Amino acid sequence: MATTLNINPENRNSGSRPVALACEQYNNEAEMLLPILHQVQKTIGYIPAFAYSQIAKSLNLSRAEVYGVVSFYHDFRQKAPAKTIVKVCRSEACQSMGGRGLKAGVETVFSDNDAVAIEDIYCLGNCALAPAVMIGERVYGRASIDMIVKLAQGKVNV
Ligand code: FES
Repeated sequence: MATTLNINPENRNSGSRPVALACEQYNNEAEMLLPILHQVQKTIGYIPAFAYSQIAKSLNLSRAEVYGVVSFYHDFRQKAPAKTIVKVCRSEACQSMGGRGLKAGVETVFSDNDAVAIEDIYCLGNCALAPAVMIGERVYGRASIDMIVKLAQGKVNV
């Protein structure tokens, strides 16, 4: 079965408590904004809109400053993540082995499926087995559209 994000679904609806705990963990220090945001995302799965004001107030920053950091770093999600994230390598070795077509094909297959998100990643250290993908936390080589679909749907465990 494909590995999925390990986020407790109860945390997604737990309101502001995880945000307050993250701020407290770092003593409400403004220079700790990045670790606080990482902690919130680790706990909730993304940075919810209500967190901007709460973090800003706790750290004595403006909401715009918090939002600016969240929107600048692509690792921060501003909406709840899909249950399964497929990262397709876009670096040279994988591109030369059909990575572009692979990504386009997978995007087409899952275009109407909000449970699966397709993202770019740049070299998974699996170049010899290009094209490579990462599903959840596991890397797969010699990836094909059919293989990715089965893995993302939990139908096989390669
Ligand atoms: S280029 Fe794709 S894994 Fe290295």
